[in-house]
Amino acid sequence: TRAIVARAPGKLFVAGEYAVVSPGEPSVLIAVDRYLTVSLSESVDAGSIHSPEYSRMPVRWTRGQDGLTLDREHHPYDYVIAAIEVSERLRAERGLRPRFFDLFIESGLDDPSGRKFGLGSSAAVTVATIAAIDRFYGFDLGTRGRYELAMLATIAVAPHASGGDVAASTYGGWIGYRSPDRDRLRAARAEHGVAPVLGSDAWRGTEITRLAPPAGLDLLVGWTGHPASTERLVSGVSRGTDVADGAHTGFLDASRACVEDLWRALAASPPGTTPPRAASDDALALDAIRRNRRLLQALGARTGVTIETDRLRILCDAAEAIGAAAKPSGAGGGDCGIVLAPAGADVAGMLRVWETNDIRHLTIGVHPPEGEH
Ligand code: MEV
Repeated sequence: TRAIVARAPGKLFVAGEYAVVSPGEPSVLIAVDRYLTVSLSESVDAGSIHSPEYSRMPVRWTRGQDGLTLDREHHPYDYVIAAIEVSERLRAERGLRPRFFDLFIESGLDDPSGRKFGLGSSAAVTVATIAAIDRFYGFDLGTRGRYELAMLATIAVAPHASGGDVAASTYGGWIGYRSPDRDRLRAARAEHGVAPVLGSDAWRGTEITRLAPPAGLDLLVGWTGHPASTERLVSGVSRGTDVADGAHTGFLDASRACVEDLWRALAASPPGTTPPRAASDDALALDAIRRNRRLLQALGARTGVTIETDRLRILCDAAEAIGAAAKPSGAGGGDCGIVLAPAGADVAGMLRVWETNDIRHLTIGVHPPEGEH
């Protein structure tokens, strides 16, 4: 039998980080044209997971009474295993005959020496694994169903993850995203199972909106060379946040205001048209990114977490100095910064500053939206 091959793109956050962790708060993300690939082939009495990048040791999984049984306790495959687990639950609930499979993972989201750029490899491996199993069992989940199943897997591993990266990796293109209430989802899954949760009211508040790329602005990505731990940064910010003192509400309100402005500036155009954009749209987008950067700086200062590291500051300042807008992408603390540069800006000058400061320009494009490949 032929292997099933599924690939999922990486992502970059454009705006709304940290705020988007609160259900219903808006963010903007893009899917990028770098990919993680999962190949699936049927096996006989046990499954296995292989990846040159993740681990040299394959993980074997079998099926026990209460879910999957693994041949060792600690493994770098949490997201893959969660994706298999949630799919197995769905398979059982749909009354399909159980089968085993081997998974081979290949990530194009890291640099050649294996260092992570911070392009969302956890989300991409989850989305690609779900896509492969969807085809293997013929679940016929569709785009939204694959997002939902990947999201259930994700929150089994990272309970507070917004899932913006999962949505971007599933839908492609530029998206506006508001997260579901993950506590409600977990409760609904525990009470009803996986199949009844898909497409149910437990997702209310979730929004995934296609946005149009800013016509007059170029997107550039700089890599600091320092991998960051999203989990450590997010828990640091949450520890440093006193929800009662009003400062956090202020942050959420201000983030919402600037992300909704960006959202308006990137409002999706009617299908099939290439709208000539008003210059003011781009001005609004640039202003929104700059405001979002300042909000994240203040959030970091208030919570004692270094979101904007020295190198991210140099990266962003060099962009602002040429009339562009820039900010850390994602949790900060390293990884990448994104820049939106207006036509005619001295991008070469900015890149020279980056180079002097060991900031690498990643030539990354946007992965087209689902259905436009
Ligand atoms: C990290 O990639 C982005 C955060 O908003 C966390 C999340 O969305 O889960 C900081």
